This record gives sequence, structure tokens and C-alpha cells, in this order.
Amino acid sequence: MTFDTIIKNGTVATASDTFPADVGITGETITCIGTDLKSDSPCLEIDASGKYVIPGGIDVHVHLQLPFCGTVSSDDFLTGTKAAARGGVTTLIDFAIQDAERGLMAGIEARMQEAESKVCVDYALHSIITNWNEKIHSEMDQVIEFGIPTFKMFMIYEKEGWQSDDAALFSALSATAENGARICVHAESQKVMSLLIDKYFPEKEKYGAYAHVLSRPNFVEEEAVQRAIKWAEVTQGRLYIVHMSTGEAADLIWEARIKGIDVYAETCPQYLLLDDEVFKDPEKGHLYATCPQIKKPQDSQRLWRALEDGELSIVATDTCTFDTKQKAMWEGDFTKIPFGLPGVETLLPSVYTEGVLENRFSVNHFVSLISTNPAKLMGMYPQKGTLAIGSDADIIIIDPKEKKKIDWQELATNCDWSPFQGMEMAGFPETTLSRGKVVVKDGQFVGNPGYGKFVKRQAWGEV
Ligand code: URP
Ligand code: ZN
Ligand code: ZN
Repeated sequence: MTFDTIIKNGTVATASDTFPADVGITGETITCIGTDLKSDSPCLEIDASGKYVIPGGIDVHVHLQLPFCGTVSSDDFLTGTKAAARGGVTTLIDFAIQDAERGLMAGIEARMQEAESKVCVDYALHSIITNWNEKIHSEMDQVIEFGIPTFKMFMIYEKEGWQSDDAALFSALSATAENGARICVHAESQKVMSLLIDKYFPEKEKYGAYAHVLSRPNFVEEEAVQRAIKWAEVTQGRLYIVHMSTGEAADLIWEARIKGIDVYAETCPQYLLLDDEVFKDPEKGHLYATCPQIKKPQDSQRLWRALEDGELSIVATDTCTFDTKQKAMWEGDFTKIPFGLPGVETLLPSVYTEGVLENRFSVNHFVSLISTNPAKLMGMYPQKGTLAIGSDADIIIIDPKEKKKIDWQELATNCDWSPFQGMEMAGFPETTLSRGKVVVKDGQFVGNPGYGKFVKRQAWGEV
């Protein structure tokens, strides 16, 4: 056979198997997995002796250059996708917000224009619905046909004009029972949260960034998740809860899935590795503000257990980077902190280090959480999310043990701090291939802006 690249002598790990093999790549595709592969003509050989060869990561929740909280998130489609490649993420899913006058497709076209010349790895989009009506309902089919079978709805962000009420959520979920789309929901209870924000606002100097914690107790998420699940149950709709942060919500997901309700959920590294003590730091506490906010150690423990047991299917990042200058806009008022954290570059290392090296789960389970389940649920499997003949050659090579200390100065993320600063992590790729092309070599980015392609996805995705 003729190959363009052979990855030699590595240990291939997929969601189901671990075995020694060479991987042969022709053009953008995996064309052979076997032993002692040789090409009939000269080709690039990459030695992966002693390393894991795994499918590229898929981060299904990323906000690049998002206008939000009076500023724009600092990682754009260029720096964000470079950071993705450096962290072993070869596909990310960003969001296209409904155009207020012209609807969903107009928002998608505009977002694709912003991304096109900058993206260094492949990307897809979720379509954000901010104003549900019959016209949007009919447009869903066109959006799905275009390759976007996932729609985002927010139960909060009233003043941003992004919020969907229960009727909108109910109707959109009903539609998914017919059209096979999935509704991705930011589940927090707006009314009670607003009441608590008003309660702590007069004492904002006293509590500082910790007021963000006080105004969003666990029941703010729990109640909203419960409500969204109820609407999914009665409509037989298809639901996905994004950035889940509480133990209570994990219990609800588990109970719902036992009842046969079509609900899946993701959690994020910030809810697994950090706890709300970070908000008590008078200098840096406000940097960690994100929605939902970081919770207690017992929540992290419950979320890890949910990942181990398969109750939660995906770890994604909710990347929405703001640097210290942007975060400083809060000026001591917790209601003005730009909400969001950097994360796409540290997704795989954080889950690999705390999951696999801490013996919480196997390397195969790790692959399922960061690649195979996202690909299946979001409708791009087996093109993405596995190492198999015919799949895109999105591949990363990682040293199983070698750790490095997280230092924001060494990350490609456009940010002057990291929530994980100083933590020791393994799992950064030495080599990242995106559709057969080496985009990270010896840990350094060597790709090109504009190389990334838009990934068209299918409806009816399931894990
Ligand atoms: O605080 C966050 N997570 N910012 C991004 C928007 C969202 O809610 O996902
Ligand atoms: Zn959100
Ligand atoms: Zn988000």
C-alpha cells in the first residue's frame, strides 16, 4: 500500500481496545491499522514507541471571540484553535447565535465567515435559539440539513436577550422528537438567581467575588435541570445539559436515564479540579467567575463518580477566555465580572491526569469521554471520534506519564492567567494530526490558519 504517513510502534487506544499497532494514513484518512506497515513510496514516519496513539479530542462547548459581558472573549478562532491543537483537540464545536431579524441560518453564515480564514483545526457549530417561534421551528429542518443538528437554549441571560422560557423549551424539545435534533440547555433558574443577586448586591464589598457563589446555590442549577428533564420526558424530546456543576444535577440525570428519558450531560474540568474556595482570594478570586460557578469538593467527587459510572457522557470545557484586564472590569462588583474561563488547551491533560493517572478510569474510558462519546452524541461518528479505517486521521500521540507544570506563559491560549496554574499534568500531545496533517510537532504548533474545515453533522446522535 501507499501511505503519506505511518505512525509506527505506538500503543493504539480507542474507546474499546488498547493494542500495539502502526497506523497508516493516506491523504486525510486512516487507511490501515496493522503491524510492520510499509509504504510502497517514500512517506513520513513518526515514531510513537512507548506512547499512546489515540483519536483527537473533541470539545463540544467552546465560545471563541464571543461578545459577552461588555467585552469579547479573548481567544478568537485563530488563537483558540491553535490552543486546541496544542492540547490535542482536533475538533471543537462553537456556537452561532440566531440573527434577530433573519433567523438561524443567517447567524450560522455570519459565524462561519468569522471562523473560516482563522481556524487551524476542524470545527462545527451549535445553533443558538434566542427567540423561539413558528418560523424558527420550520427553519430547524434547514439547519439540520445543513449539518447542524444541535440547538442551544439558555434558561438564563434575560438581560442579554438570550433567555428561552419554559414554553419555548417545551416546544423546541417537542420538535426534536420528530426531527432528531438535540436541545443543549444552559440550566439555571433565572428568577431565583436574580432574587439572590439582588439580595447580595448591597453587601458586594463585604463578600467580593464570593458573592457570585452565594447568589448561585446548588438548587439554582438543580431546579432548572429538573424542569428541563420534565419537559424532555413529557415531549419525548432529546435533551443535553451543558456545563453541569452540581452533585444534585448528576443525581437527576441518572434518575432520568433510568426512566428512559433521552437526556445526556457534560461536565467541565473547572467543576472537577477546582472548588469554590478560589473565590475567596481577594486578588484573584474574581478571575474564576463563570456560569455556573465552581462548586464544592463534594460536587466534584459526585461528578467524577458520574463520569466513572457512565452517568455523564462527555467532558467539555465551556471555553470563554477573558484575560486579567477584561476580568478587572468588575471593579469590585460581582455582577460585572466577565463570566468564563480558558480551557480548551488543558481539557485532555486535565481529564487524563486526574482520570487515568489517578486510577479513576482506564485510558479507553478517557477516550470515550473526550472523543468517542462527543462524536457519537453530536452526530459525527465514525468520521471523527475513533481510530478506524475510513475515519479522518485526527490523531494525537501522548506520553503516558510525562507531566509538565501548567504555566499560562507556555500555553497558546490568549490569556495571561490559567485556572490550573502550577498543576502538574500529563497528556499534552507531542504530535497532533488534523486530517493527516501534522499541526503540532514536538509540542509546538506548526499548522496553518484556515486549514480547519466545517464539519457537517447528522441528526439522531446517541452514545
Ligand atoms: O460563564 C460562561 N460559561 N460563559 C459562557 C456563556 C455560557 O453560559 O456558556
Ligand atoms: Zn452556559
Ligand atoms: Zn457556554
